[in-house]
Amino acid sequence: MPGWVKMATLEELGPGQAKEVEHDGRIYALFNIGGSISAVDGICPHQGGPLAEGPISGTCVTCPWHGWQFDVTTGATPINKKLKLPVFDVRVEGQDILVSVP
Ligand code: FES
Repeated sequence: MPGWVKMATLEELGPGQAKEVEHDGRIYALFNIGGSISAVDGICPHQGGPLAEGPISGTCVTCPWHGWQFDVTTGATPINKKLKLPVFDVRVEGQDILVSVP
C-alpha cells in the first residue's frame, strides 16, 4: 500500500552509513550522505546485488558484486543512460526516517 513508512532512525543511520530495509516484499537501500538521507531500490538491476552493502563515494554507491555504480540521489548510472534505479522520497520527522513507498 502506498504511503510513508518509517524505515530507520537517525541514530541507526549516521552520516556515511547505509541500511537495507525490507518492506512489503521489496528491498530498499537507505544512505546518509553527509546528513542528507536518500532511499533507492536496494537490489542491483544487474544481477541482484545488495546495494546497501556497497562502498559509497560522494553520492555514488558501487555494487559489491560486480561494481556497477549508481548515484543514490538520482538513481542514474554511468553504465547505461537508459537505466535508472528507482529513487524514493524521504522525510525526516524528529529522529524518524520515513520513506514514500509505491
Ligand atoms: S549485481 Fe550489481 S553489478 Fe552485478
